[in-house]
This record gives sequence, C-alpha cells and structure tokens, in this order.
Amino acid sequence: MIPVNEPLLGQREMEYLTECLRTGWISSAGRFIDAFEKAWASYCGVEHGVAVCNGTAALQVAVGCLDLEPDDEVIMPTFTIISCAQAVIQNGAIPVLVDSDPTTWCMDTEQLEAKITPRTRAIMAVHIYGHPVDMDPLLSLAEEKNLWIIEDAAEAHGAEYLSGHATSEPSWRRCGNLGHISVFSFYANKLITTGEGGMVITNDHTFAEKARSLRNLCFRPERRFYHTELGFNYRMTNLQAALGLAQVERIDQIVNHKRWMGQAYTERLRDVSGLQLPVEKSWAKQIYWMYGVVLEDTHKMDAEEFASRLRERGVQTRPFFLGMHEQPVLQERGLFKDEHYPIAERLARKGLYLPSGMTLTETQLDQVCDAVREALM
Ligand SMILES: Cc1ncc(COP(=O)(O)O)c(C=O)c1O
Repeated sequence: MIPVNEPLLGQREMEYLTECLRTGWISSAGRFIDAFEKAWASYCGVEHGVAVCNGTAALQVAVGCLDLEPDDEVIMPTFTIISCAQAVIQNGAIPVLVDSDPTTWCMDTEQLEAKITPRTRAIMAVHIYGHPVDMDPLLSLAEEKNLWIIEDAAEAHGAEYLSGHATSEPSWRRCGNLGHISVFSFYANKLITTGEGGMVITNDHTFAEKARSLRNLCFRPERRFYHTELGFNYRMTNLQAALGLAQVERIDQIVNHKRWMGQAYTERLRDVSGLQLPVEKSWAKQIYWMYGVVLEDTHKMDAEEFASRLRERGVQTRPFFLGMHEQPVLQERGLFKDEHYPIAERLARKGLYLPSGMTLTETQLDQVCDAVREALM
C-alpha cells in the first residue's frame, strides 16, 4: 500500500532528540523551545512565536487573544477542519460561514462582505491543502470594517502570497505573515512536524504575551499559583521542539520536494477527463500539502467509491473535509440552520487526496497515477 503520508526524519532530528535525553531537558523548558519558536517565526517573517501542543490548541489560544464577547461573530470557511469552528465556540463566539472558491477550494472572499454584521469581530482565513487564500480583498475589508484577521496556516508551511497583486508594487509574503495572528500545526503529516505540535505567531507584542500566558495556565509573573484569568496547559515539550528545529533547518528541501510532487502529479493527470486538479494561481506559491483531486459530475461515483477502487490498487487516500454546516455536533447547537454551501458540499462528496508524503518516490507517484486512470475507467 502506498501510504497517504509518511514523515521524513533524519540524522539532525536524531541528534537534537538525543541531546534532550542526554541532558534531561524533556519537558517544556529547554533550549529547543525558544530556538524553534524563533526559527519558525523568523522564517515566516514574524516577530513572535509561541509553541503549543497542537494546531487545535494554537487556534483556541489565537482566538482567545482577541478577547471576544459572547455572541461576537467570526467569519470562516465552511470547508475546513472542526478545530476552526471549535476555537470560536469555545471562546464564546459564533462561527459564521462562507462557501469555497471552486478552483482554490479556499474561502470565497467575494462572499465575505454579505456576511458582515455589527457583531463581526474577525475573519479566519484558512489556506486549504497548501494553497493560499486570496488575502488582499480580505485585508482591505478588515481594515475598512476594523476586523481582526486570524490566519490558519496549519496546512501552508512555506506557501507564499503575492500581496498587492492587483497593484503596481506587489510583494511575496509567506503564509502566516498576513494576518494579525496566525497559527500552524506540526502534526506528523505536516511539512514541518514535531509529532504533535502547533504555534501561534504574531507581530503584536500584546497578543504574544497573552498567548504565552494562555498556554501556561495564566500564571501571573509576579506571583506563582495566583491567577486572575483561566488558561490551559498547552505547552510544547523540548523533545517536540528539538524535532521541529531540525525540520525547520531543511524547510527549503521539504518545500521543494512538495512542489516537485505537486507539479509531477499535475503533469501526469492533466489529461484525465472528469478530474479536477489543484491549481496554482498567478498570485500564489502553493506547497501541495496534500494533492487533492475532485471528481467532476460526469463521474457518477463519489469519492468513497473512488477511494475504495484506489485501495484495491494499493493506493491509500483520505477524504476531503465535510463542511461545518453539515456537522451534527454544530447543527445540534442551532448553528447554520437551513444553510447550504454548494461548492463545499460537492468537494466533501467528490474530493479526496492522494499519497503526498515526504517519502513518496517518482515510481510510487507513477503507480498512483496509473491506479487513478484505471479506477476511473
Ligand atoms: C486547517 C487546519 N487547521 C487546524 C488543524 C489542527 O491541527 P492539529 O491536528 O495539530 O490539532 C488542522 C489539522 O490538520 C488543519 O488542517
């Protein structure tokens, strides 16, 4: 079976991890935490990094930094992971949804304005499967309406966006560098992994301080075991950060491999009829976190049947997200009643992603493409 993902761990990861074991720094203090935070924030071109135990926790902390009031609203894509909606709800606010762009699968920024109400406080932009959201319209709307931008770059390590692409002075900026506060996941299937892990990054000193406090039970600096706010224990360990630092040191190699993989798949699958492939807009450098494909309606089968045919041919896949408006746990809370988002609904039923890991070889990639053709015959 060709796995959907496998991390690539090397000698440097081994060395740094061994150092933790040798020196006994295995908990949430130690040199690697600070070094990893600094290295990742600096790679993204952002001042502060606050490492946490996973991307879901990073989202919860990032939303927590905004001090939302009950019934404040945060606009986000319906086509995303539940961590996004959950972070908003657990901070007492309400998620408000928009559909996806049919080509990038990221939030359709044209639908944002219609969703803004006097209670809107923030927009959560989620870069889907490695392709950036078109951030310019979102940033100008946020400035005009005085909204925060939370960037969920959990799937977009090293992806870039051509900021100001419709102006005479555009400039490339890394995902994570575009919002007021941004998050990453370092789960084992991500471009940079710490096993489990996440980070909040921001240029805002107050947000960074608040994120550090929320991560560590809101201990008051002047007196330990004295609290004026409730926080979490979302600390990352030195062991995880050791892995992370070793990975960041070869981020260019990782991004290059992913871009090679994405382009190689596209070259081979371009002529397969009825199969929608990932795009790379002229204003985007996408990093193909996962190489997703979507069956056009000319194919009667859905993604589940497609996945089972691929499995029979030795190819592991994963289904696309199911939109937030279709989640029973959120509907039961009275959210998104009678709301429909046709693009996200189609993606959920017709989309899956192919093996996209760091260890995928060209021979395996060819086998996957042959299996795709056969499965669609
Ligand atoms: C877009 C997005 N946000 C957040 C997360 C949550 O990250 P984690 O799995 O580290 O909690 C994920 C996980 O894959 C994700 O894809």
